[in-house]
Formats: sequence, structure tokens, C-alpha cells
Amino acid sequence: MKKKIIEMPCLNEARKREVKKDIPTSVFKMDDTLSKLGEGKYYLIITHGCQANQRDSESMAGLLEAMSYKPTEEKEKADVIIINTCAVRQNAEEKVLGEIGDLKKLKKNKPDMIIGIGGCMAQEEEAVKIIMEKYHQVDVVFGTHNIANLPKLIKDATESHQRIFEVFSKLGEIVEDVPATRFVNHKAWVNIMYGCDKFCTYCIVPYTRGTERSRSMEDILNEVTDLKNKGFKEICLLGQNVNAYGKDLKTDYGFGELLDRVAKVGIERVRFVTSHPWDFDETMIKAMKDNANIMPYLHLPLQSGSDHILHKMNRRYTAEQYRNLVDLIRKELPNYAITTDIIVGFPNESDEDFNDTLKMVDYCKYDNAFTFVYSKREGTPAAVMPDSIPQSLKEERLQILNKKIGEYANMNNQKFMDQVVEVLVDGKSKKNDKTYSGYTPENKLVNFTGENVAIGDIVKVKITSCMSFSLNGYML
Ligand code: 5AD
Ligand code: SF4
Repeated sequence: MKKKIIEMPCLNEARKREVKKDIPTSVFKMDDTLSKLGEGKYYLIITHGCQANQRDSESMAGLLEAMSYKPTEEKEKADVIIINTCAVRQNAEEKVLGEIGDLKKLKKNKPDMIIGIGGCMAQEEEAVKIIMEKYHQVDVVFGTHNIANLPKLIKDATESHQRIFEVFSKLGEIVEDVPATRFVNHKAWVNIMYGCDKFCTYCIVPYTRGTERSRSMEDILNEVTDLKNKGFKEICLLGQNVNAYGKDLKTDYGFGELLDRVAKVGIERVRFVTSHPWDFDETMIKAMKDNANIMPYLHLPLQSGSDHILHKMNRRYTAEQYRNLVDLIRKELPNYAITTDIIVGFPNESDEDFNDTLKMVDYCKYDNAFTFVYSKREGTPAAVMPDSIPQSLKEERLQILNKKIGEYANMNNQKFMDQVVEVLVDGKSKKNDKTYSGYTPENKLVNFTGENVAIGDIVKVKITSCMSFSLNGYML
């Protein structure tokens, strides 16, 4: 099949950052000729990766529904299948390639089906080359900056029977009012900024998601107010590094002020992810202290407890600075649960470096942690750093770390024994219709028994047993 290349990804282009200037904002408008294209047809979106991808998938769903496509869970029934991919680690990419491979047979039986690949893998030169050469069943590859153009790309691929590649490596623009279909009606992600300028040396995100671009406070507050009016109970402000919010806007306010204003809209629960320890400031702590509806939960990625590795990672803080920040948070916000991200096996991480990470875990006593073995990402500075640490030792370190994380998670959860907690209900157990699950303000997963409970209710639950990664109880 012929291919139409509008633009291919380029990591070198994506690396460039322009001097901060006004970020243009445009308002999405759907072309009338596209709105009936999906009539009588179905779509399915498969989402991998982080919350930014989850939120982007809601926009993709909104765009497809604006074209009159209807959702389906069955691959066989779908006329459009989109895979929203993650590039942060190699194994996530391998999973996606396997998934695309599995779609080959389906496409053979249904040649008019459109298969689209979006997300962070679509921003990677190597990954797109592989898709172009080996995975001919893929019709559309679109980048993280090209989502608003998805309807047009699907139309072009459907009508021209060509494969279409449109991946911009850089885009300064923010598109407001892109239609979105929220996947649940009680909790919503709200983007406050896009991209990342931190360039941690292991990370592909600054290349796949581009320059930091903040949405205007007014647009964010309007979205939160609208969600509140629609009955949403919880919002989570989203950014790769929310603390950098506003740095690109020509205003004198930052994330602390935004958080305070958002909380004052009065929605029951406000959360935010992710905070970089580097530009965490006192106005954020003040906002958290002043507003009871900001949930007592903080995700504060550590990555490593060794100064030497932190420096090689370009994390911009030392172990001592991180400890001081945790001390400040524990003092000012004593009821907060703290979780983190940690990478083991960064190039040439020594036993001593790894021990420093373990020591930091002992110091911070995290409620939980997402832990990873370092994964080499082509095009990042760490990919060319010498590394003589065997993979098996890296895996061993992960096991040791996970054991420690589990012990502290368990210890922290034991504090909830016999307590009454408030749970925002997410769903009913598939196995037992009197068992429900949801999260406490501290982001602890609770499984509980109860009756006549609806998704989105906030209910009181008495805790009767505490496991490392969840709590059990009954509704009062
Ligand atoms: N290898 C392993 N883990 C990574 N992360 C980001 N890049 C890599 C990589 N190359 C982890 C970091 C980050 C989380 C989202 O993913 O811990 O905080
Ligand atoms: Fe990646 Fe670092 Fe940016 Fe997080 S802050 S997205 S780890 S570069």
C-alpha cells in the first residue's frame, strides 16, 4: 500500500527548546464533512502508560464520537482501533509491537478497518521506522502533538487507502475545546500543562511530549467548574512536572496559586501528579494546608538516593535536599501519604549507590513506590553512558528494593486498622456484588462490603484488616 508522509518524528528536532515566548492557543473546530464519517461504525482505544496517555485517550474517544463512531470493547467489531502507546521503557514498547502483530489477522479479514498508532512511541524515530517497514497493517501513525487532527487523518486514510504518517516533533500550540469522552463520571484528569523541559538523562518524555506549555489559569478553572457542575467528585491536575506550571506564562503566579484557586472551586477531592522535588515551593505547601479538599497524598519521585547517580541523572537535587523537603512536608503536612518512583540499575550504579537508595527508603518510609529497572532509551544521554552492571544484578536489586518498599507500605497501612475512612467508590467487584472498591483521601485502595452503593458515592468504611497494598473493611 502507498504511504503518505506528512511529517516523521525527529529526536534531534524534538530536543530543541525555543526561548520561552507566548504560547499560542487555538480553539478546536470540527470540520462538518467529518462528523458523519463514522455513522454505524465502532471504535476501540487501547491505552498504555501514564495518566497523560489516559487523558489523551479521552480526547481521541471524544474526537471519534464527534465523527459518529460508537465505542466497542470487541476488537472484531471495531472499524477503527487506536493504540495509544508508551515509550518510557523498552518492555512497554515490546508489548505494543506484539499487540500490533496480533491485529494483522483481524485486518486481513476486515481490510477496511483502520489501525492507528498514537502516543509516545509514535514520536520515536526508530519505533516509527519499524512500524513503517514491518507492520503494514498500521494505517495511521499520529504523534502526541497531532491528536486534534485525528479525524482528518482517519478520513484521509479511509478514502485514499494510503498509510499516513503525521508526527510533528515540535509544537508550541495548545488546542482548547478538543471534545473529550470521560471514561468515568466521578473522577477526571485535568491537564494543566503539557511537555517537560527537565531532561533527566534516562527519560524519553521531553522528546516525545515536547516543550513545557501551561494552559491558562482561566481555561483550567473553567474546566474544573464545568466538571463540578456535571457532578464529578474528584479531579486530578496533570503534568509531567506540575510544579513548573506557569513558568512559561507571562504571569507572576505558579502552581501553588493555581492549586489554591482550583481547590476553591469546591469540588470534593483535588489531587495532582507529578511533582518534581526540584521546584517544589512554599506556596504549594500553603495551598495544601489551607484547603481541606486537597487530598493528603503526595507523589514525589526520588529516582535514586545516591548523589553521584542523581547528578548523572540530571535530577538537580542532592539526597540531602530531598531529605530536607520530606522533613518539611512531614512537619507541615503530618497526615500526608508520600509515594515515589525509583529506578535501579542506572548505568554503572555501584553497590554503594544502591545502598544509598535503600537508606533513603528507610528515611522516608514511603507509603508505596513505583520501582523500575533502568531501561535504555535511544537518543537520551544515558543511553551512551558506559555500563558494566549485569542485568541480573539489576533485577536482584529491584527485588531487594521491592521487599523493603512492601515492608514500609505494610507498616503505613497498619495505622488504618479499626479506623473509619472515607472512600470514593470506583466500582463493584466482578465476583461478588456486595463487594466494592475505592480510594481513601491518602490514595489507599479499600475493598469493602456494603449495600446499595453507587459509583461516585463517598462512603464511610470501618477498616478490619490491612494488607501491604490495600485495606479491607465494611461500610458503616
Ligand atoms: N528506565 C526506567 N524507568 C524510567 N522512568 C522514566 N524513564 C525510565 C527509564 N528509561 C521511570 C521514572 C519516572 C517514571 C514515570 O518512569 O521513575 O518517574
Ligand atoms: Fe522524565 Fe524527568 Fe521530565 Fe519526569 S521530570 S518526565 S523523569 S525528564
